[in-house]
Amino acid sequence: MTGPPRSPSPAVSRIEPAVVRRRVDMLTDPGSFVEFGSRARHRATAFGMQARRPAGDGVITGHGTVDGRPVGVFAQDPSALGGSLGEVHATKILTVLRWTERARMPVVGLLDSGGARIQEGLAALDGYGAIFRAHVQLSGRVPQLSLILGACAGGAVYSPALTDVIIMLRENAHMFLTGPQVVKAVTFEEVSPAELGGAEVHTRRSGVAHLVAGNHADAIDLARRVLSYLPDSCWDEPPMGVPAPAGVLPRLPESPRIPYDVRGVIGGLVDADSFLELQPRFARNLVTGFARIEGRPVGVVANQPLALAGALDIAASEKGARFVRLCDAFGVPLVVLVDTPGFLPGTRQETNGVIRKGAKLLYAFSEATVPRLTVVLRKAFGGAYIVMNSKSLGADAVFCWPGAQMAVMGAEGAVDIVYRRELRDDPEARQGLVASYEREVMGSHLPAERLSVDEVIEPERTRSVLAATLRTLAGAIRPRFRHDNLPQ
Ligand code: HXC
Repeated sequence: MTGPPRSPSPAVSRIEPAVVRRRVDMLTDPGSFVEFGSRARHRATAFGMQARRPAGDGVITGHGTVDGRPVGVFAQDPSALGGSLGEVHATKILTVLRWTERARMPVVGLLDSGGARIQEGLAALDGYGAIFRAHVQLSGRVPQLSLILGACAGGAVYSPALTDVIIMLRENAHMFLTGPQVVKAVTFEEVSPAELGGAEVHTRRSGVAHLVAGNHADAIDLARRVLSYLPDSCWDEPPMGVPAPAGVLPRLPESPRIPYDVRGVIGGLVDADSFLELQPRFARNLVTGFARIEGRPVGVVANQPLALAGALDIAASEKGARFVRLCDAFGVPLVVLVDTPGFLPGTRQETNGVIRKGAKLLYAFSEATVPRLTVVLRKAFGGAYIVMNSKSLGADAVFCWPGAQMAVMGAEGAVDIVYRRELRDDPEARQGLVASYEREVMGSHLPAERLSVDEVIEPERTRSVLAATLRTLAGAIRPRFRHDNLPQ
């Protein structure tokens, strides 16, 4: 072995040690950060390591406050041995994680590391193993956030993958299990760091990153915002914000076939500027994010008619399932807005396991014990009607807007199946049958009659009804450990 692989062109611009300290200072309230382990040094001797023993061993660790709330922090320093993780570096991170467990406070990792320190061999791998286990033991107990601020590889990407929210810089940040050099050596594939694991890949295609930031200040602002919706731990209640009026609720298009942006509806129901969408570019057919209603944090899950007509698919199911579990783990009530034609049909979905993956969303909603409210905006068909927090899955309240349609499937599809033989003889009859199916099987009065819907409400009353229901159900949030937040 001759040392770690080197890239011909740096994946990140070289940074000075002071930059990492500035990152910590930007995150924590002025004067609040208490560091420990600043004089720690590794004891490795192989590969001339005696001559390279940076103080702190490539990571700043400690605790401070963020907007007045205690938070554990670790920040890797790529200017010290590439931010790579050896035994001492690992011990320092483990200490932070132990503190967060003891103090029941969130932890924020600022990651910028080439992964396991090659020169330290198994000591480095075992360090990661212990860190992974510690993240898992904290999962669902305290919020865990990861900021990806440079080229991260190996354990430096698996460790964030075990946390709740990943925020990534748009430029000069990468996440991959193995870097471009190793990829080339093993598969002969030539790929740039950005193509392999840049923000574009992880926000649009893999769904690994939840949020993308233009610069360090933005990334840290986003971390503060995420923390503002979450309690310090599952044993605390989510923090109330300052109530604000909602934006203007748009009118939905008359025709159920015309798409609209459900984010406009969200904006008309939640406190102004309170909506923070997670994974906005991944599985765009399902919108997930935090918001507030009269200051109370909620998790919003909404079908997006702009993408795939709002149909559910594998990616949306996994995205939704993890978000629902995150909210449930930390006592954040769920508000679910439904407008979906069903699950996306097709061989690609079936062979890639939509049964297994869709079941995750079904499972997550069924399991959730936080207050769960659903509003059917326009239509809810088939499996997707059930999956999207229906009454039968245990929703506390299901509302619908006047004219909303709920059925096993849309009218045309239903008529074509049920009247297949009749239509062969008399194709002209189709239109009349569609109309009578719409009238007799799909109307919003039917689910309301059989209490699949608790109340049909006018769009303009929706916010006040949601707010009042959330207020009434506030006592249902008994802070306690519910479950972990298993990566989907
Ligand atoms: C020791 C490392 C290192 C590592 C980088 N460095 N990664 N040192 N162990 N894992 C050092 C380099 O030697 C270099 O030192 C400095 O960090 C900067 O690295 P460069 O390659 O010059 O930087 P850049 O071109 O920006 O590329 C960054 C990189 C690349 C893409 C991260 O360094 C890389 O591919 N590293 C290896 C990544 C990897 O395969 N890690 C997986 C480890 S296994 P000098 O002295 O020149 O400043 C692992 C197991 C986890 O983590 C288990 C998972 C389940």
